[in-house]
Formats: sequence, C-alpha cells, structure tokens
Amino acid sequence: MPTPTLALNDGNRIPQVGLGIWQVPAADTARVVSDAIGLGYRLIDGAAIYGNEAGLGDGLRRSGVPRDQVFVTTKVWNDRQGHDSTLRAVEESLTRLGLDRIDLCLIHWPCPAVNRYVDTWRALIRLRDEGRIRSIGVSNFMPDHLERLIGESGVIPVLNQIELHPSLVQADLRKMHDTLGIVTQSWTPLGKSLSFDAPPVRDAAARTGRSPAQVILRWHVQLGCSVIPRSTNAARLAENLAICDFTLTPDEMAAICALDTGERTGPNPHDFG
Ligand SMILES: NC(=O)c1ccc[n+]([C@@H]2O[C@H](COP(=O)([O-])OP(=O)(O)OC[C@H]3O[C@@H](n4cnc5c(N)ncnc54)[C@H](OP(=O)(O)O)[C@@H]3O)[C@@H](O)[C@H]2O)c1
Repeated sequence: MPTPTLALNDGNRIPQVGLGIWQVPAADTARVVSDAIGLGYRLIDGAAIYGNEAGLGDGLRRSGVPRDQVFVTTKVWNDRQGHDSTLRAVEESLTRLGLDRIDLCLIHWPCPAVNRYVDTWRALIRLRDEGRIRSIGVSNFMPDHLERLIGESGVIPVLNQIELHPSLVQADLRKMHDTLGIVTQSWTPLGKSLSFDAPPVRDAAARTGRSPAQVILRWHVQLGCSVIPRSTNAARLAENLAICDFTLTPDEMAAICALDTGERTGPNPHDFG
C-alpha cells in the first residue's frame, strides 16, 4: 500500500512516512536507503551533520527508482548558519548527495544564542527561488522562533521537524502549526522505546495484532504528523512502513496522548547550539 502524502503550504507534497538516517553508519547508508526504497519508502530524512549524505544519494541511485519519485530532505547544521555560509553549505550537500536539487531543506536548530536563523532562512528562500531546493522548512523551532522568522521574512516554513513521541506530545506547538499551515514532522518518533510497555500502547497492540512500534507510528499518522522512524534492520524497516492498513480508535488515540510527561529525550531548542 503506498504511503499517503501530506500537502505542503507551497503546493508541493511530502510522503507521510519516511526513513530517518541519523546514526546510520556512512558505510551502510547506501544499502539501507536502497533496501528501504525497495520496500516502498519514498521519503528519506538526512542531514549534513549525519555524515552520510553521499550514501543517501548512492542508495537512491542504486534503488533504480526514478529520482522524482523519492523525496530527499537534508538540513543545514548549526555551524553553517548565516546567509553566505548557508548558500555554500547547501551546495556542498548537493555535491555530496550527487543531486541537482533537494526536495526539502531545513534549518536543523534555531540556535538562538547565535542569532543567525533569519539570515539562514533568507539564504534558503534564495536557493528555493533559484530551484536548488523545492521546499524549505525548519527543525526544532519553538513558537517564538517561528513568529520571528515569519515576521521578518514573510515566508512560512512548510514543515517543522520536532521531537515528538508519546512522552512528548507537543499539543500546543502542533496547534500553532495547524493554524499557520505548517506540517509537523516527528523525530525520535519511537521515543527510545520508553512507551512500548505502557498499557495504552500494549492494549492497542493486542487489539490490532500489531507491534508497539507500529501502534506508536500509527498514532503519529492519525495525529496528522509526518513520521521518520529509523531502522537498519530489514524486518523492522518493513514493519515501520506497514502502518496504513489499521486504525486506532479515538479512545486509543486519547489514551496514548495521555502518556505525555513533557520530558524531552534530546536538547531543549532554546539552549542548544
Ligand atoms: N531534527 C533533529 O534534530 C533530529 C533529531 C533526532 C532525530 N532526527 C531524525 O529522526 C529520525 C528518527 O529518530 P531516531 O533515529 O532518533 O529514533 P527512532 O526512529 O525513534 O528510533 C530508532 C531506534 O529504534 C529502533 N527501532 C526501529 N524500528 C523499530 C521497531 N519496529 N521495533 C523496535 N525497535 C525499533 C532502531 O533500532 P534498529 O536499527 O536496530 O531497528 C533504533 O535503535 C532520525 O533518524 C533523524 O532522521 C532529527
């Protein structure tokens, strides 16, 4: 079953389910990406800092699936923020990927202490207008960062990729995204397996005959988020994609949302970078 796509506010679309490749060793990345595309993945979430953009591009070519059928994301790392350095950083990413266009490029972290994310954003707008990037977005942006970015540039990001899992439901930020027409994309969607044994997840898994990971990924999809689980294991790659042929009930959705503790597994975006 092909994965559904979500509309972006610039007229493009993004597959709702994809593969994240953080911590996938560079030497394994081409194989993992090619296997994933062979299984039906059509969104690969990379980043310059992951050190495996070359493998992403190689895996895409090795898969034999036409370039325009696979959605490739990369991100500008913190030490490249600023207008001209971002222009150069994106060209370097394109070279490593071996592509002439990126489907989605994100500012990886706002790094408010560095105070360059608006300049970085202006560079992404220029690269989009020049056709090097189709869609532009952000990652780890909090409400105040989004308000400033939009207020100073007049351009709304298509997507904000944020930490989101059953322990960190991010209800307020998702509501703001919905109001602005920004797609929410969940990183570390499995939440370091912390909720796999929680009764709402276990009970929904028992009722549907699915694994706890599939229940949690399905919960993201029904929240309306795009989700990018990582695996280097062929069976789990397939398992994580097989989440579009069952449905959680409203009560099951609410019970999983109630697992929210507000605790992050990663850094607080206000402090990081
Ligand atoms: N923007 C950001 O700042 C940011 C930060 C973090 C992550 N990300 C993105 O989000 C992606 C996903 O996040 P993540 O990699 O941190 O974590 P994740 O996808 O939530 O979890 C990955 C871990 O779960 C295991 N796993 C995968 N599928 C499983 C399943 N069906 N059952 C049980 N275990 C399973 C994997 O092991 P195996 O490989 O052994 O299956 C791996 O150890 C990243 O790869 C990256 O692309 C972005």
